[in-house]
Amino acid sequence: MPSFMPSTSNLIQEEDRKEKTKTSNPGISRRSFLGKSLAAGAGTFAAGRLLANVSPPIDVGITSGDVAILRFLSALEILEADLWQQYNELGGVQDDEVPGGSGNEDYTKAIEVLDEDMPQYIHDNTDDEYSHFKFINNYLVSKQASAVNLDQFRTLPSSQATGAQQIGRLTNLMQLTVDTKWWTRYRSDKKNPDFGDSFQQAVPGLSMGQFPAIPRNDGDLQPDDHLQAIANTAGFHFGSIEQGGSSLYPSLAQRVTSKEVLRILLSIGPTETMHFQIWHDTAGNAPPLTDPTNGLVFPDLNSTPFADGEDFETDLIMPEPTIFLDRKFPPCSIIRPTQTNGAAMAALRGLISSGLFLGQPQGFFSFMAQLAQAADAAQPSTA
Ligand SMILES: [Fe+2]
Ligand SMILES: [Fe+2]
Repeated sequence: MPSFMPSTSNLIQEEDRKEKTKTSNPGISRRSFLGKSLAAGAGTFAAGRLLANVSPPIDVGITSGDVAILRFLSALEILEADLWQQYNELGGVQDDEVPGGSGNEDYTKAIEVLDEDMPQYIHDNTDDEYSHFKFINNYLVSKQASAVNLDQFRTLPSSQATGAQQIGRLTNLMQLTVDTKWWTRYRSDKKNPDFGDSFQQAVPGLSMGQFPAIPRNDGDLQPDDHLQAIANTAGFHFGSIEQGGSSLYPSLAQRVTSKEVLRILLSIGPTETMHFQIWHDTAGNAPPLTDPTNGLVFPDLNSTPFADGEDFETDLIMPEPTIFLDRKFPPCSIIRPTQTNGAAMAALRGLISSGLFLGQPQGFFSFMAQLAQAADAAQPSTA
């Protein structure tokens, strides 16, 4: 910051320099910004002391809109942690970092057909989700806002298969309807959901019934093609979950006020995308088969009619450049969708329609809808 270097020993100029240096620091400019928004009565939430010259820096509040966005994200991260925990207990790595469960050998082997590193990836994705909600909740509390707690809704059954803990769950992985349109959405060079475009399912069967993504009990461990279908379902569900996070963070980031909250969203969101990219790659290794118990078909995405265009081939996992913002611009490789209006409610609706919360009481859906509506009502404060 050469322009802020002291040019003279004059005390007044030195004080002026210190003040300018302070306001060039993101943490402190946020404070002075919040001071302005509070003075203007712009809905600052639980603001603490706001004197610009207090040293050392103190925690200050954030806008009610930022709190609403963070609370919704915290709830979703808790739900993600719950579902990933279930995958880890049966098909991941059980250790001090992600304890619980004791692994299911047959299911783990079926998962490893998609990639031999799957157990480690499942473990690390689980670990990441715990870190996300714990961080966001702690950050909320540091801003005198309340953390999100969904413990009262941990009532759904655990898998009875060998390896699963017997505890109450928030999410259902045993009757899932998996939307696989993300597969073709990221391969399209002409369409974008933000323009109202629709996309084909990669695995149509998964979107039209209810299927287990983990063995419900040891009876699900055979025959082989049934167990592999369960592992394949998990493989596509992983991508479905993490592409959702990849879109949600940039969608909501457009309506935050505080630069620090923006930094949180911009720092967590891309980790969802790092997960998604792995799951996009590994899902392509799901072997084509028909589940003999229920007729669920996993097609060969590299064969006719799928291989006729670029929309299905399994090695095309980089996002294809497509239309963005306006058709007058050249195609751009982007996360999609990212439009912000109603993004929280759209994310919640998507999860509900997948059956992830099957068995939850009305109180759960009301609570989640309230969080989503509050997040979607948030607007950046410019006061
Ligand atoms: Fe997450
Ligand atoms: Fe995630």
